[in-house]
Amino acid sequence: MRISIVGSGYVGTTVAACLADAGHEVVNVDIDEEVVDAINAGEAPIHEPGLDELVAAHGGDRLRATTDYGAIRDTDVTFLALPTPSNEDGSIDLSAMEAGARSVGEALAEKDDYHLVVVKSTVIPGTAEETLTPIIAEASGGTEGEDFDVASNPEFLREGSAVADFQQPDKLVFGATTERAFARLRAVYDSVVDDVPVVETGRREAEMIKYANNAFLAAKVSLINDLGNVCKEYGVDAYEVADAIGLDDRIGERFLRSGVGWGGSCFPKDVDAIRAAARAEGYEPQMLDAAVAVNDCQPERLLALLDGHVDVAGQRVAVLGLSFKPGTDDIRNSRAIPVIEGLQERGATVVAYDPVAVAEMREQFPDVAYADSAADALVDAAGAVVVTDWDEFAALDSEFDAMARPVVVDGRHVVERREGITYEGLTW
Ligand code: UGA
Repeated sequence: MRISIVGSGYVGTTVAACLADAGHEVVNVDIDEEVVDAINAGEAPIHEPGLDELVAAHGGDRLRATTDYGAIRDTDVTFLALPTPSNEDGSIDLSAMEAGARSVGEALAEKDDYHLVVVKSTVIPGTAEETLTPIIAEASGGTEGEDFDVASNPEFLREGSAVADFQQPDKLVFGATTERAFARLRAVYDSVVDDVPVVETGRREAEMIKYANNAFLAAKVSLINDLGNVCKEYGVDAYEVADAIGLDDRIGERFLRSGVGWGGSCFPKDVDAIRAAARAEGYEPQMLDAAVAVNDCQPERLLALLDGHVDVAGQRVAVLGLSFKPGTDDIRNSRAIPVIEGLQERGATVVAYDPVAVAEMREQFPDVAYADSAADALVDAAGAVVVTDWDEFAALDSEFDAMARPVVVDGRHVVERREGITYEGLTW
């Protein structure tokens, strides 16, 4: 098929490269000329395992990029993969989506045959139907259900394993109103996946499934963190408890790693957006409110454990790990941010280390000292906190001997409790 993808951020680029690899003719539309040039030159504009190879293989050939929305006229399907950032009150800002929909509509005004527009971005239930469809109808002069359809196809890929997640998803979710739209979505994915459950439903349902999926996972982590805090009070290892309860397949073993909490560009934004959407309808989603409240308190609990061993005012404290999870340099909503702020409020001198995310954190915290290695960060420190579960932190050993006081508070269950250090696990 001929497919256009509007937006070449994290999701747009991955989807474009994977669809090209599956044999489709793909064109990526983006306003950023540098990104467009990179794709056409066969270079991935973002870092994801496996993406470089796909963009190198197809960039400039089956995968092209352009700043011209007119390119979508030569395609059968357009995916909208534009950002939906948060407003102050947690609700989502749809302005990029609305502008994108308008440009797609204007391009379609000069197209004769039927076109399918697919919303990939995470949007509140009703957005495709009530906001985007009228914009496309007005800009194109066309009629929904005849000249075009607007479908919903949320994306569940994770940062750090985006290509693999897209190519081997747990499920596909298609929300549409006509058989023609469903058929076209099936045709897009036929060559990508094999034997994957496909949920065919309404657009509002598809939009809600995405929020429910992320909110459920975020709340699952908050629940194990809440239970983990209770475990800690009673001297119980929450990881032993999680291993046991995870054997009950109604609970499941995944997403039970307790610690300093969840961050990233999705969970915080999406949980806030669905809470704001609920409140807008007069419903207070108490479980989701609690999930956020627990998440907000974990960094302070980590620091309170450190306070129990050392008064950090005027002391060096090593912060190990800055990205929101291992395998990425993304620091958006990383738990390292409240941890650093809490240490600074206490008057500590923060020395931070991360294998890949130092440059990003330096922009936000220019006054923090950054070390070139975990070992360097630990030298003369009166305490260390582990915020990201990078594997290399598990290998630290004699490096702790260089600390002024070897107090280690682990927020991710990576460092082993051992002789010679005062070790505190956040929930174990
Ligand atoms: C998440 C979802 O997992 C994807 O399915 C979804 O498509 C994506 O958001 C999105 O909406 O775009 P991602 O943000 O890349 O993916 O990260 P996750 O691997 O889910 O981790 C999120 C956070 O939860 C991280 O800070 C991680 O450290 C934390 N986490 C995860 C825990 O603290 N404990 C766990 O057991 C699992």
